[in-house]
Amino acid sequence: MNFEFSNHTALVTGASQGIGRAIAKGLAAQGVKVAMAARRKAVLEEVAAEIRKAGGTEPVIIEADLYPGGASETLAQKALDALGHVDILMNSAGGSRPLTDAGTKEQWMEALTLNFLRIRELTHALVPNMQERGWGRIVNLTGTSEPRMLNAAFSAKAAVHVWSKGLSRELAKDGITIHCIQPGRIRSEQIKKRYPTLEAELEFAREEIPMGRFGEPEELANLAIFLASPLASYMTGTVIPVDGGMYRYAF
Ligand SMILES: NC(=O)c1ccc[n+]([C@@H]2O[C@H](COP(=O)([O-])OP(=O)(O)OC[C@H]3O[C@@H](n4cnc5c(N)ncnc54)[C@H](OP(=O)(O)O)[C@@H]3O)[C@@H](O)[C@H]2O)c1
Repeated sequence: MNFEFSNHTALVTGASQGIGRAIAKGLAAQGVKVAMAARRKAVLEEVAAEIRKAGGTEPVIIEADLYPGGASETLAQKALDALGHVDILMNSAGGSRPLTDAGTKEQWMEALTLNFLRIRELTHALVPNMQERGWGRIVNLTGTSEPRMLNAAFSAKAAVHVWSKGLSRELAKDGITIHCIQPGRIRSEQIKKRYPTLEAELEFAREEIPMGRFGEPEELANLAIFLASPLASYMTGTVIPVDGGMYRYAF
């Protein structure tokens, strides 16, 4: 499919694994110049080799830990230096933070920092550049709004939904859109740890997922790439599940 990208650039966080990796590869295959960020440089090199082998646009690698204070602003500057400008921001770095009890202050701060605060800071560090160019696309990978148990990441993801909706109303006039995608159970490094065998996946899927299986990262990346493309010109402020029908409510 032709998504109508032309000389676009993107910063993808969490590009070493799972969903971010599939999005980075998918964008590069569409001719987008991608800066891929994560902590594990060696794994990013592997992703770059896969992109090259598939004939995608040569990516840039940025080694970055998003946890320390100031990390978002540093990453934004590195991406701007490497790419010249950033048209598309994919906020995929993050992860589940299940709690067995109320959780400590440190656990809550760690979860909120990675899954909300850094996303907010990184976005605001790049928005002025998008505003100058009158075009931008921001996609946040979030999570469920139907908590079955206590998980500090759920609260952080909900904060992203509400912040993102508010921001979408401010930025629409500048040609910038912002969306959230809620993965259900998408095969990735963190999901593999929780469901190590196909049988474990199927046991969950039989009960919870109408399509009866876990999703592949590429199945979610297809939506992220569309939302990042010029084709998604009359949508903003959405929260869209990609979950095989797991989400239970009509609206
Ligand atoms: N997969 C699912 O079914 C699912 C469900 C609900 C929500 N989500 C959300 O979707 C997003 C992607 O999930 P995934 O399943 O693809 O995750 P994953 O396979 O565990 O990958 C997480 C990515 O985030 C990066 N990352 C983690 N901590 C980081 C840090 N401190 N600084 C910089 N990068 C960091 C990791 O890279 P390094 O380790 O190399 O730094 C990795 O590339 C996450 O926000 C997750 O919460 C996924």
